[in-house]
Amino acid sequence: MGLFAILSHMFEKKFPEGFYWGAATASYQVEGGIEDCDWAEAARAKRVPPCGLACNHYERYEEDFDLAQSLGHTAHRFSLEWARIEPEAGKFDKEAIAHYRAVLTALKKRNIKPFITIWHFTLPLWFSQSGGFERADAPEIFARYASFVAEQLGDLCEHFSTMNEPNVFGSNGWLRGSWPPFKRFAITDLISITNSGRIFEAKATKGLKPLFTYFKVMKNLAQAHNLAYKNIKKASPQTEVSVVKHVIVFDANWNPLNKLKAKLANYFWTGIFMNRTYKHCDAIGLNYYFYTQFGDKRKWRKTDMDWNFAPEHIYDALMMLKKYQLPLFVSEAGLADATDSGRAEYIKRQVTGMWQAIEDGADVRGHLYWSLLDNYEWALGFEKRFGLIEVNYVTLERKVRSSAYVYKEIIEHNAVVE
Ligand code: BGC
Repeated sequence: MGLFAILSHMFEKKFPEGFYWGAATASYQVEGGIEDCDWAEAARAKRVPPCGLACNHYERYEEDFDLAQSLGHTAHRFSLEWARIEPEAGKFDKEAIAHYRAVLTALKKRNIKPFITIWHFTLPLWFSQSGGFERADAPEIFARYASFVAEQLGDLCEHFSTMNEPNVFGSNGWLRGSWPPFKRFAITDLISITNSGRIFEAKATKGLKPLFTYFKVMKNLAQAHNLAYKNIKKASPQTEVSVVKHVIVFDANWNPLNKLKAKLANYFWTGIFMNRTYKHCDAIGLNYYFYTQFGDKRKWRKTDMDWNFAPEHIYDALMMLKKYQLPLFVSEAGLADATDSGRAEYIKRQVTGMWQAIEDGADVRGHLYWSLLDNYEWALGFEKRFGLIEVNYVTLERKVRSSAYVYKEIIEHNAVVE
């Protein structure tokens, strides 16, 4: 070994043996052809952009998994489309299950460990039109669906997340009013810190009531998770069940008032939901995108979403979740970067932040970049590019971005090498 090799070995940031690496997607954002859910209906009403065929991942998953495999991925997170599986209340579709079994088999064939998210934002029309998560019996309805999929797919998958980002779903639907069902709490303008969906917000119903409904929905979501957890464990006891939690890191400068604000904001966004659910989790998935500091005077470099370019603060998000004393995994983290000019740096800094959290005691087991493919970015349509793989939406051609190879190198070394 030459001196350089010895030195770089000494300074490499190594991950634990068996650490898994890959990327994530979500059904509505990539599959295409989903028409009987609330988002498709909102698109028909011209409240959000149409999703259409998206990446046609529903038919091209084999090709996409070949690419993931060629990029060294050992794990993959994807979601099931509830509207496909339960097109009518209590009636389940065998063909949809057969499809997702084929997807799981395709991953297995490539030695890629599957992570299923049972529900990622979109609701079947029969459910959304009858009140969705505002319904008092929503937890039972959700848990019935969750136990069905665990029974049907549990033999092919060991990791199920019940739901994706309950707080984002609740706040975009009932506080900001930018997503279905478009209810807007009147003072949200004053506290909004992100831009996702701004172009459509004007059409939301404004008022004070959405705040109360938001709290009701959040309570129902926590109960839905807890009940689903119990049902899944009954149907498939060997399964690891998690929730995927979006964590915003609210930080503060020296000012005690700002410190108090940050504490309250973290409690509101992360504490309330996690306190209600962590006892019904075998693991927690972290989705990290935002770092913000009260009293911050710095001028941040921005991603294409206009979010602070702050990948290393994934460290703080992981340390916030560490207190629940459960295994953690990064279920999403990444950036929109159409030119791919900052993605490699972002990934390296993000993975370094995660390494530091592990050094400091967080039990992190894996990392799933968002996203494998460019995809439908909800109310912002197809313009934002999160993919390791670029998608041409006219020809549906896939093209691997050069940052994907930087990620591949990290995976192959199971380490960040400076
Ligand atoms: C969601 C994804 C979304 C990504 C980027 C997460 O909040 O789970 O569906 O595309 O962030 O905005």
